[in-house]
Amino acid sequence: MDVIPEPARTHRHGPGFRELGPGTGLSVGKGADGTARWLRGTLGAATGLPFAPADGDGDDVLRLSVDPAVTGELGAEGYRLDVLPTGAHLAGGGPAGLFWGAQTLRQLLGPDAFRRAPLPGRTWRLPLVRIEDSPRFGWRGLMLDVARHFMPKEGVLRYLDLMAAHKLNVFHFHLTDDQGWRVEIERYPRLTEVGSWRSRTKFGHRASELWEEKPHGGFYTQDDIREIVAHAAERHITVVPEIDVPGHSQAAIAAYPELGNTDVIDTTSLSVWDNWGISPNVLAPTDNTLRFYEGVFEELLELFPSEFIHVGGDECLKDQWRRSPTAQARIAELGVTDEDGLQAWFIGHFDTWLSARGRRLIGWDEILEGGLAPGAAVSSWRGYAGGVAAARAGHDVVMCPEQYVYLDHRQADGADEPVPIGYVRTLEDVYRFEPVPPELTPEQVPHVLGTQANVWTEVMEDQGRVDYQTFPRLAAFAEVAWTSLPAPGERDFADFERRMSAHYRRLDALGVAYRPPTGPRPWQRRPGVLGRPIEGTPPNR
Ligand code: ACM
Repeated sequence: MDVIPEPARTHRHGPGFRELGPGTGLSVGKGADGTARWLRGTLGAATGLPFAPADGDGDDVLRLSVDPAVTGELGAEGYRLDVLPTGAHLAGGGPAGLFWGAQTLRQLLGPDAFRRAPLPGRTWRLPLVRIEDSPRFGWRGLMLDVARHFMPKEGVLRYLDLMAAHKLNVFHFHLTDDQGWRVEIERYPRLTEVGSWRSRTKFGHRASELWEEKPHGGFYTQDDIREIVAHAAERHITVVPEIDVPGHSQAAIAAYPELGNTDVIDTTSLSVWDNWGISPNVLAPTDNTLRFYEGVFEELLELFPSEFIHVGGDECLKDQWRRSPTAQARIAELGVTDEDGLQAWFIGHFDTWLSARGRRLIGWDEILEGGLAPGAAVSSWRGYAGGVAAARAGHDVVMCPEQYVYLDHRQADGADEPVPIGYVRTLEDVYRFEPVPPELTPEQVPHVLGTQANVWTEVMEDQGRVDYQTFPRLAAFAEVAWTSLPAPGERDFADFERRMSAHYRRLDALGVAYRPPTGPRPWQRRPGVLGRPIEGTPPNR
């Protein structure tokens, strides 16, 4: 059966199988409409089976229901799948659990169930089995950076499908950075007119001499965003948008120069950044900037129903603030000790602003510096320390330490790895990642909402490169996020690898350009394009 992520409990009723055919009906209970729609659309396309409406009593029926008994035992995201000679019954603890169960069912049908049209002569059968399953964490995330390299809308929808197939449920959408602004804001058209493209791009890590001498850009219209959010919601995925402030903001300053530290540099001379690293051009800590971004967030809240809104907060270089009389005057006025206090004030402003609108702020772990408002949550990326400090201080955290789950980092130590950067993090390293820091007390552990893998795209110029870096490691990550351990440290990598041989065939059917276990295919290499392969040193992308 080789299901990934591995279900909590699997029991074979017997050695046989239950065939699904053109006569197999679909019985759709209350709360099961969404999964029925997905199943008819996606599995219907792959198998050619109609899954016509049926009542629950027939013998050749797949029954979908939401069952309070399953809710009680396995929670709203849990499910029970029973395949018997007399029919199959998938019961969810809630609509989400039912949907995750349908993802398991798809895997049980074999790799061709992951195609978009049926291959001739295929038959479809399910093993006689009982599976009972529920996730370890409520936040099973993937962050995608569409700022460094834009991923067109079709690609984002595809990634949501790939997340769903791996039972991941939070899409952290990194929409803005120094190198591009990717979301239409109606009241500030220059954010996308100016901020969404650059005239050329560094090819490789910034150590590389190469340039891609052509314009790069793109953005999502508000209707594109609505479509993305709806597509995600149908798959029980929450989209958490990120607008990165007060650093990583050069594209916004290029569009609206008054947002920058105009008393330090001539911000009218700035353009969207064409290189990688951390830009010194950060937002000015002025009332004008706060009002501007309130306007941005007002439109964002209309588009994204997510409780959490990500405000970035990472890697804000403070040099311009040190030199800016305006910033220094603000430090004095606020009575804070230094520039860190200024950043805490900036983030705190949006924490209050978002809370007043029924939302919660989340930011990278730098937002802990200088003090953090009580309701805010932290994405712990610089190792475990930020997550530990945050959980001890009573904040919720999402664990995404760069040492384990930054998927831009190279996945093997060979000279063939395309544009190798950062740490070597193999499939096995990701598989062995433990999101809960061992030093947390039992009272602090519930502050760990879950975990996410982060895909930064400086050296991923197209979807094939994103696929290569993301897969197969996202499959290992999905198991970390979903499957509870029998005891800490007891993951069985040999068994995972064995199940991966089935999973590679599913990824093939889906058209995912993963890294093969034997290394990159010839066209996946980037000979001559410099990365920054460092071991044991912070990679400072
Ligand atoms: C980050 O990697 N700068 C959050």
